Amino acid sequence: MRTLFAQDASRFDRFSREFGGLLLDFSRQRIDAPALEALCGLADETGLRARIDALFAGDPVNESEGRAALHTLLRAPPDSPQARALEPLHAEVRAVRRQCAEFVRDVHAGRRAGAGGERLTDVVNIGIGGSDLGPVMAVAALAPYKAGKLRCHFVSNVDGTQFAELAPALDPARTLVIVCSKTFTTQETLANARRVRTWLAAKLGEAAVPRHFAAVSTNAAAMDEFGVGGDARFAMWDWVGGRYSMWSAVGLAIELAIGTQNFEAMLSGAHAVDGHFRESAWSDNLPVLLGLLAVWNRSALGCVSHAVLPYSQRLARLPAYLQQLEMESLGKRTTRGGRPVTWETGAVIWGEPASNAQHSFFQLLHQGTADVSMDFLLPLRAAADLAADELVIANCLAQIQAFSNGHESQEPQRVHPGSRPLSLLAFHELNPATLGAIVALYEHKVFVESVLWDINPFDQWGVELGKKLCNALLPLGEAAAPAELAGLSGWIARQR
Ligand code: F6P
Repeated sequence: MRTLFAQDASRFDRFSREFGGLLLDFSRQRIDAPALEALCGLADETGLRARIDALFAGDPVNESEGRAALHTLLRAPPDSPQARALEPLHAEVRAVRRQCAEFVRDVHAGRRAGAGGERLTDVVNIGIGGSDLGPVMAVAALAPYKAGKLRCHFVSNVDGTQFAELAPALDPARTLVIVCSKTFTTQETLANARRVRTWLAAKLGEAAVPRHFAAVSTNAAAMDEFGVGGDARFAMWDWVGGRYSMWSAVGLAIELAIGTQNFEAMLSGAHAVDGHFRESAWSDNLPVLLGLLAVWNRSALGCVSHAVLPYSQRLARLPAYLQQLEMESLGKRTTRGGRPVTWETGAVIWGEPASNAQHSFFQLLHQGTADVSMDFLLPLRAAADLAADELVIANCLAQIQAFSNGHESQEPQRVHPGSRPLSLLAFHELNPATLGAIVALYEHKVFVESVLWDINPFDQWGVELGKKLCNALLPLGEAAAPAELAGLSGWIARQR
């Protein structure tokens, strides 16, 4: 990288692009102009243009499930070409949007209150995976945009500890529970929903339950059975993947936290990136560039893992969110046509907020032997005060300089090899529109990778096997364990 920067003083100008208040600086990636051109050529050869058109047109791009993937329609305004082209579907989107906005308005105004008339103060979102990670991430990221006084909590893990720890701080009479599950069959979510229902019914009586529950799902029959009232049910569609769903009613907890205006600003930020993705030339297109570079780092340079490093405590859950988005989408070993792939696919995604990460795992990134690519995210005005902003920026710049340029020394222990492939995404401040833009950027990055690798980013058959095996093991000790688990199951039974 030192050589490349010495050869070309305008490397930053050549390898950085801006869109909608976001700067993507990829000058510290191991590419030169011919490499970038070749990557753009690969996008053409693999038919990226036609695949993007198919995505936005609502074609069944999720071939193995015969479904469209229309998360972009959820943030398309009514007068957009996509909304007009897909009017019957967009009418449903608008209806649910209206329903969410009214619900939020009523809760904020105290018109939608607990069964005893008390104002609602706490929201508990029960969901897992895509029905949890987006809302968790966004509510934390947008805490300064809070509208009203509602406190939002999230319960996902099947072990029940999150609710056990939360319950003592909750007044059931003032608590609204959202059961968020596209399928309404997810074992973890149902277990938690029943647990919370029992708690609520024990405190307030069975008759109070419907007033304190809302649900988001495609499964109306299951919502009936659970006892969610008609006015607190929010539809979802099978053409929205769970990990792409925070723009739908799955984002209800976000909208309750930040209000409808801010929620819609988030949708607008994402929609702006959709237009940029559809219309910009590959070499100016931020999500395409991110996707091409990810393929370059994984398939050409052999980086097995990719670290996401936000210089913002508010983005603490972004790495976990991107873990699902990228790894559930790109963890595939067969092509869309069902043949085994003969190239590397999705990287392992991980990360933590920096600067904390500087004092834990950065050592390995600086001097370890593993090849890891990195994305740094840097808000210029997100810290507690101006002095903190300055510290944040200086820390981030120092790290990317060290990772890229390395360090020479007579003492081998002090040598940094440098040339660690990294991109920097910088933006003025973390607001609803920026957050929407960042998430849409990554959604489309994943799509680009999937096209270049010829894999389906919208199914997740791998997670199904574990669910099936788990159900077959219940009730524990009574159901017959497979021979390979018999020894271990016996040991567990003896310990319990
Ligand atoms: O098990 C994986 C998964 O299917 C994810 O894709 C999804 O986000 C999550 O489970 C939760 O699913 P649901 O919203 O249907 O409860």
